[in-house]
Amino acid sequence: MRFNPMTSRASDIDNARTESVVHVWDRTTRLFHWVNFLCVLGLICVGTVILYAGDLAIPNDGKIALKRLHVWIGYAFLVNLTWRLIWGFIGNAYARWSAVLPGGKGYVSALKSSIRNVLSRDPEPHAGHSPLGRIAVTLLLLALFVQGISGILLAGTDVFMPPFGDYFAEWVATPNKDPSLVQPYAPETVNEVSYAEMREFRSPIIATHLNTYYALLALILIHVIAVVTIEIRKGGNIISAMFSGRKSLPEDLRSEKESVN
Ligand code: HEM
Repeated sequence: MRFNPMTSRASDIDNARTESVVHVWDRTTRLFHWVNFLCVLGLICVGTVILYAGDLAIPNDGKIALKRLHVWIGYAFLVNLTWRLIWGFIGNAYARWSAVLPGGKGYVSALKSSIRNVLSRDPEPHAGHSPLGRIAVTLLLLALFVQGISGILLAGTDVFMPPFGDYFAEWVATPNKDPSLVQPYAPETVNEVSYAEMREFRSPIIATHLNTYYALLALILIHVIAVVTIEIRKGGNIISAMFSGRKSLPEDLRSEKESVN
């Protein structure tokens, strides 16, 4: 079927583009995505309850249990995130850092056209992440790393859990007493002065954890709105691709596909 670009509407042209199925997201990337989704959801829910524990009148035992649960989910989250970091070097072409992080040859002009398409409410389909999407995904991953690092430190300072729990317990322990006797929310098991010092040390870490939590909520909201909007506008397969790994793309995007491969 031949098209006259002067008389055809955008939707006709869209319909005329022959589609080909591209295997975009490999199994590891999909698994990372959904494990990450579940962990972050769990961390946000439990973290929010911890944040409002005072208002909810949760007793100390309950707070300790919630924090331990939060840290256990946090370990799973961190293992998954670390594996994704490594996968960015060895995964398929779309999972590599070169295809995820902003930058590279022709990135700026591709970004400008990506922004123009979004502003004109006509987002172009992309095999991997769109140039704008790369910025969003990078910010999300950065926020997740900051949250992971601050969280693992807090796990040591607050509930004395690994990997730094022993170090912080030694710091705050009553002199000449076994640091393994240090317990969360038990002032009688710590030295008041060193405990105050340790709390001062941890103060910017908890502030970072809290601010990044707010940033993450905003980024996740933007991510979900963007994905759902593209899915609805383009009647596309951006969400199902995270389950099946496959995207149906216009043939003329082959060059993008091949440049990524
Ligand atoms: C997406 C990831 C995460 C989110 C959204 C999140 C969210 C939160 C929130 C909202 C709080 C309450 C902050 C407050 O009470 O001021 C919190 C506390 C805490 N988080 Fe996370 N967190 C995440 C990851 C982690 C990880 C990976 C760990 C450790 C492995 C962790 C360890 C902790 C600890 C120990 C606390 C208690 C701190 C305290 O109250 O003193 N978090 N988190």
